Amino acid sequence: MEVKQIDAKDTLEIRQKILRPDANTGECVFDGDEKDSSFHLGAYVDDTLASVASFYLDNHPKIKDTYQFRLRGMATLDKHRGKGFSSALLKTAFPLIKNNHVTTLWCNARTSAIGFYDKIGFETVSDEFDIPGIGPHVVMIKEIS
Ligand SMILES: CC(C)(COP(=O)(O)OP(=O)(O)OC[C@H]1O[C@@H](n2cnc3c(N)ncnc32)[C@H](O)[C@@H]1OP(=O)(O)O)[C@@H](O)C(=O)NCCC(=O)NCCS
Repeated sequence: MEVKQIDAKDTLEIRQKILRPDANTGECVFDGDEKDSSFHLGAYVDDTLASVASFYLDNHPKIKDTYQFRLRGMATLDKHRGKGFSSALLKTAFPLIKNNHVTTLWCNARTSAIGFYDKIGFETVSDEFDIPGIGPHVVMIKEIS
């Protein structure tokens, strides 16, 4: 497996398949995907993209730090789960975020994925809330040391 920086458009197929199976690919474009401050990582097995994650300079209204990155679109193809691919993407992202003088990474985590984020050191900082059409979430934060 190899982690590479990828273009936003390369994430769309996995986002659609895994995160928004009822949407079309065009609906899987996120605000800020093409901003210079955003970056996208992919884990490749041979030449196949197996896992994706996207990072945006975007502040959560209830988190105080001046600059924050937001994680979105974290997804691994079913057959490649549990092989450490998502963890590898996040571990690649942490120093890149820190190089931008940012130490806070947050996400709206699906409650079904809390265990995954816990393992990589995220903490839950909100009550559960619903994102219509997607399901229950919590806000989670990783302080990057
Ligand atoms: C959550 C998800 C991204 C994890 O991807 P992955 O590539 O399988 O993750 P990793 O292999 O790096 O997992 C790292 C660890 O977390 C654990 N883990 C993975 N998903 C988990 C989950 N949903 N709940 C609890 N633990 C989980 C793994 O077992 C592994 O544990 P280990 O270190 O003890 O072996 C993947 O399951 C997925 O795409 N799920 C559907 C989409 C989704 O929910 N995305 C998150 C949206 S907020």
